Amino acid sequence: MQTILAFDTATSFGAVCALTSGGRGSREKAGDLLAIVDELVDDPRAIDGIVAGRGPGSFTSIRIGLAMAHTLAETLGVPLRGASTLDAFAGGMAVIDARRGEVFVPGPRVCRPDELEVAGETLVGDGAIRYRELFEGNGATVPPDDDPAHVPDPLLLIAHANGPWSRSMFAGELAKPSSICLGAFEETRLVGYLIVSRYVDAWHVMNVAVDPDHQRRGVATALLEKLFELTRDDERRGYTLEVRITNEGAIALYERLGFEPRGVRRGYYTDNREDALIMWRDPALRDQ
Ligand SMILES: CC(C)(COP(=O)(O)OP(=O)(O)OC[C@H]1O[C@@H](n2cnc3c(N)ncnc32)[C@H](O)[C@@H]1OP(=O)(O)O)[C@@H](O)C(=O)NCCC(=O)NCCS
Repeated sequence: MQTILAFDTATSFGAVCALTSGGRGSREKAGDLLAIVDELVDDPRAIDGIVAGRGPGSFTSIRIGLAMAHTLAETLGVPLRGASTLDAFAGGMAVIDARRGEVFVPGPRVCRPDELEVAGETLVGDGAIRYRELFEGNGATVPPDDDPAHVPDPLLLIAHANGPWSRSMFAGELAKPSSICLGAFEETRLVGYLIVSRYVDAWHVMNVAVDPDHQRRGVATALLEKLFELTRDDERRGYTLEVRITNEGAIALYERLGFEPRGVRRGYYTDNREDALIMWRDPALRDQ
C-alpha cells in the first residue's frame, strides 16, 4: 500500500498531519509541522506522495505549509498534490475563520457570518466555533468546541487531491475571470464539460469529461474546437495538458486535434503513481 503524508496548516488548529499507513499529530503552530513529520515518519524513503491543504485560511500559515510541502516533495522526489482545506471536514458544513469579521465557506466564498443561511445546518471548523452564538441563534447546530469534527482531517484531503474534482474546485474555476469553462448540453442536461485555465504562456486544459452515454459522438472534439475558436486571437499562448499515460482514448482525441507529446511527469498521479504524458499544441496551428 502507498504511504501518503497529508497535512493542513490553514486553520487556527495549527499544523495537523496524518499518514495513510497510520499515525496522526498536531501542533498549535504551523511552523512546527516538521516536528510532527519527524515524530510520525521513521524512514522518509517510505513516503510515496504528499498532499497539502491549500487553504483558504491564515495566509502566513498556508505559506508555511505549502513551502514545507514543496521542500519535502522536492527533497524526497515524490509527487505533491493540493486540495482545498474546505474539503477536509466531514461532520458538517465547513466554516473557516477568515478573521476581520469574515468566514470562508464552500464555494469557496468569503462573507460575514450573519450573511450565511444556516438554519438546520451543522457547522464545523474554527469559524463555526468563533461565531457559535450567532449561528446557533440562526438555527444551526455547532458541535462542542472540543469535538474533533472542528479540526481539518488531512486524510480527507487525499480523496480530493486526485480523483474527481470537488464542488469547490469547480466553483473556484468557474469564478475565475481568466478561465474558460464550456458545457455541452442535450436540451438542458449537461453531457460534457471543458475547463481551461489561462497561464502565462499557455491555455492549460484542467478538466475534460463526457458522460459515458454520450461518448464517441464528437462532444469532446466540439468542446475543444470551441476553445480554439474562442482563443484564436491569442497569438502568444499555445495549449497544454497532462493525461494519464494509459488513457489511450483521451490521447487519441488530443492527437487528432493537433496535440503532441512533450514529455512525461513521473508518478504524477498520487492514487496509483501513474505517469502523466504532457501534451502541447502550438498556437501556430490556429491558422491551419
Ligand atoms: C476522453 C473523453 C473526454 C473523450 O470524449 P468523447 O466526446 O467521447 O470524444 P470524441 O467523441 O470527440 O472523440 C474524438 C476522437 O477521439 C478518439 N477517442 C475518443 N475516445 C476514445 C476511446 N475511448 N478510445 C479510442 N479513441 C478514442 C477517437 O479518435 C475519436 O474519434 P472516433 O470516435 O471517430 O473514433 C471521454 O472519453 C471521457 O470523458 N473520458 C473520461 C474522462 C477523461 O479521461 N478525461 C480526459 C482526462 S485528460
